[in-house]
Amino acid sequence: MPRPRTLFICRDCGAEYAQYFGRCGNCGEWNTLDEQALPSSSRGSSGSKSRKSQTSQALSLDQITDAPEFRFSSGFEELDRVLGGGVVPGSLVLVGGDPGIGKSTLLLQAAFHWQAHASVLYVCAEESGQQVKLRAKRIGSNPTERLLLLPENDLDIILAELEQIQPTVAVIDSIQAIYLPNLTAAPGSVSQVRECTAALMRLAKKQNISLFIVGHVTKEGAIAGPKVLEHLVDTVLYFEGERFASHRLLRAVKNRFGASQEIGVFRMVEQGLAEVTNPSALFLGEAEATPGTATIVACEGTRPLLVELQSLVSPTSYPSPRRTTTGIEYNRFLQILAVLEKRLGIPLSKLDAYVASSGGLGVTEPAADLGIAVAVVASFRDRLVTAETVIIGEVGLGGQVRSVSQLEIRLKEAVKLGFKRAIIPKAQVLEFPGLEIIPVSRVADALVAGLSSEKN
Ligand code: TYD
Ligand code: MG
Repeated sequence: MPRPRTLFICRDCGAEYAQYFGRCGNCGEWNTLDEQALPSSSRGSSGSKSRKSQTSQALSLDQITDAPEFRFSSGFEELDRVLGGGVVPGSLVLVGGDPGIGKSTLLLQAAFHWQAHASVLYVCAEESGQQVKLRAKRIGSNPTERLLLLPENDLDIILAELEQIQPTVAVIDSIQAIYLPNLTAAPGSVSQVRECTAALMRLAKKQNISLFIVGHVTKEGAIAGPKVLEHLVDTVLYFEGERFASHRLLRAVKNRFGASQEIGVFRMVEQGLAEVTNPSALFLGEAEATPGTATIVACEGTRPLLVELQSLVSPTSYPSPRRTTTGIEYNRFLQILAVLEKRLGIPLSKLDAYVASSGGLGVTEPAADLGIAVAVVASFRDRLVTAETVIIGEVGLGGQVRSVSQLEIRLKEAVKLGFKRAIIPKAQVLEFPGLEIIPVSRVADALVAGLSSEKN
């Protein structure tokens, strides 16, 4: 049998070449070409034959019957919500995250839930059957014969098993550990990962298997090269969290069957992952109030989260002061410090400044700006933020407070957790039962309203 033909694709710009080059002629990047098998339809004349025999034809929307809106649960309400209301049969879900974050644990727990109603195939390409069994014991589940394990790396064998077993759900753990033997590229390379996913997708769609694919995130934060898999699959979930904190966030970054940016919250405990149904309570610090602490309401997807921010400013002993952030975007923090210095005359340039969100929760939203600004000034002046107050608003470069999205959802969550006051952008002033609303148009107004008058 002749070796299948391959082509070389730049993993940065997608340009295709018939042979290997050290440098991509299109984008000019070095060492970005990956080998990939040529799709079978473009190999020789067999493509045109299969074309004639195919039955697809163009249809109007009226002629297409409605797909039945059917989903099944994963056993985790948090996961179901992130998926858009449960698992869609025949859908392809990519679960990405750093190694050790809990992807295998999550999917093994879900697999134990599914096996009660359906057949499940768990491909453990990274671990032996014994290791998976150990983990199963740890999460305390009773396996039945409907949950099958396949410790295998060769995709041809995996595909054959899938075809034979015809499971309702299959888990591939992980995509970086499996390979197509007829590609010379190493497992985990862009071309292997892309080809393996495409082959799995074809089979899953044909047999209506719901497929969960685990993918490790590379240092740059993408799953095996930029965007190689995201466009192939229906749903992309990222499992994130601080390695040493127990909580984990599951975030939908793409979802053909639901809202993206939806999040689910879990905690890693001794018996695997447990759901956190009231996450705001988790991210509110339990310690007593200290100067430099402020509470904001972040909105992740449709989910509001109360988060405690802490800031510390202190005289520097370095030639240039240190700025450190945990959970907050570094450049955003620098910008807020610059606004405080220039517009409010607060001399921060000789001070070290630190900011952290409780639990290291990643808050990327501009709505957190005002809370950060108030926390920094509170630490600088050694004042407490007034009790039971949430602070919401974006800070403009001129020191003005700008509007935020989803204000009402945020305020509702604040009321639910017992807060009494909310400092909000003036442009969005509204009545809100159960909350004293303090509208502000400038950061300076927020400081007057939000900081207690006595020194701590
Ligand atoms: P794992 O699911 O193996 O991560 P991934 O597949 O994303 O690489 O989870 C690994 C971590 O979770 C490991 O450090 C141990 C911890 N863990 C618990 O704390 N409790 C448990 O019950 C289990 C199964 C794992
Ligand atoms: Mg794993």
